Amino acid sequence: MHYFKQLEEILLAQEPKNKFELFEIFYKEFKKTTIDFLDSYQIKNIKEPSYQNILNIVPPSEAKPRKYVNTKEGKAFLLHTIAHIEYSAIDLALDAALRFKGLPRKYYEDWLEVAEDEIRHFLMIEKLLNELGTKYGDIPVHTNLFEAMVLTPDLLSRMAVVPRYLEANGLEQNPKIMEKLKSNPDQFNKKILNALNIILEEEITHVQKGDKWFKFECKKQKLNPESTYLEILEKVYPGSTNKKYNINFEARKQAGFSCNELKFLSKQESCL
Ligand SMILES: [Fe+2]
Ligand SMILES: [Fe+2]
Repeated sequence: MHYFKQLEEILLAQEPKNKFELFEIFYKEFKKTTIDFLDSYQIKNIKEPSYQNILNIVPPSEAKPRKYVNTKEGKAFLLHTIAHIEYSAIDLALDAALRFKGLPRKYYEDWLEVAEDEIRHFLMIEKLLNELGTKYGDIPVHTNLFEAMVLTPDLLSRMAVVPRYLEANGLEQNPKIMEKLKSNPDQFNKKILNALNIILEEEITHVQKGDKWFKFECKKQKLNPESTYLEILEKVYPGSTNKKYNINFEARKQAGFSCNELKFLSKQESCL
């Protein structure tokens, strides 16, 4: 099996259906094959998102989610936003499994498992979107998550920024959306709530994986994980460590954040 070459093809695949089919075949083969994770294949630098020809890309300011979940349009907008986050997360997981060579097999298993989760999340949300008569691609999208991938070409910054910052922020965003849906408890919003519940549980495991490999690399490079994390965040997103985060303490602790880190991020005295 030419692990890197085949996985790169999947990452570059432009059509979601095609990407998922290729992934399914690849993942089955991966599970029963021994792989050379140091093979000489040259991985391409990716400058454009795989979805650039199938989605309408606009600046983030024009792709802000609408705040109402009590109208059909508001629900469709919310679901489309989540679908795009999940779709972008598929490529991010594939890229994590592709970009960095010579790591333990468990590393690749972890990120392929995340890719499989993200595909399932996307399909779950897409199904609900379709029930409203909207398709993925009907609403403009931004490329924020793809840009995070480009800004983090090395393992250490990738693990810090993608799972341990962006996906970790999702652990706070998700319950906020759930609250809004709970205060508009119609039948359809209950279905969205169910899907978001599943996603939240599984996202904790994605952050956990990021935490594990971030610390693995810190240890290898003899770096202090807590200070290194903040240094990387400041470098990639200047000003981000001065902000006060509305932390989901329980989820973040499960994901591997220390009490010190949570106090710093929440600007609170305690991490209880
Ligand atoms: Fe997800
Ligand atoms: Fe995720």
